[in-house]
Amino acid sequence: MLPQSQNVKDFIKSLLDTSPPQDFTKEAAEKLLKILNTNESKEEKMMDNNKTQDNLMAAFSGESEANRKYLAYSKKAEQDGKTNAAKLFKAASDAETIHALKHFEVANKVGTTTDNLLDAVAGETHEYKEMYPEFIETAEAEGNTAAIMSFTYAMQAEEVHARLYKEALENMDDTKEIFYYLCPVCGNIETSRPGKCIFCGVPGENFIKY
Ligand SMILES: [Fe+2]
Ligand SMILES: [Fe+2]
Repeated sequence: MLPQSQNVKDFIKSLLDTSPPQDFTKEAAEKLLKILNTNESKEEKMMDNNKTQDNLMAAFSGESEANRKYLAYSKKAEQDGKTNAAKLFKAASDAETIHALKHFEVANKVGTTTDNLLDAVAGETHEYKEMYPEFIETAEAEGNTAAIMSFTYAMQAEEVHARLYKEALENMDDTKEIFYYLCPVCGNIETSRPGKCIFCGVPGENFIKY
């Protein structure tokens, strides 16, 4: 509740306690108080809802991160020959995906496919135009060669992703099936199997077909 609305309430109550001015009846004062109280509880409820909305998105981020982290841990456990730990990490990583998707859905973040494609274009464009160039500059200043490479691969791939999303948006009603080929090293996506990846040089036969 805003401090001002408490002042208004106190004022109206004081009118009820004393004799209200002629053109301001007791009934009018009571009605006003009732409206104020109803509006307040509505505002409070809305604030609670906003907090839950924020919590849903915070939980979505956390679960999404846990999903990728457990997948990385699973790979490591597999390399180490720790099969049970690898399996547990993989199962838990899938569980976190279930949680993340549910939170995202409940937060009402899944729009129409047109909305979602527009959102994807915006996200990928921000990443390749603003986010990664800045990250690369910092990594260069700090001399972190591995990070420069990781960011550069992602930046190049995001530009391709943005273009593909745009094309999908423009050709949404096309019924001709398109196949996508994913580079397993840099995340580049092609619409036909290339001889080798234009960004990282991985042979085309290693690309994953979708
Ligand atoms: Fe991307
Ligand atoms: Fe690649």
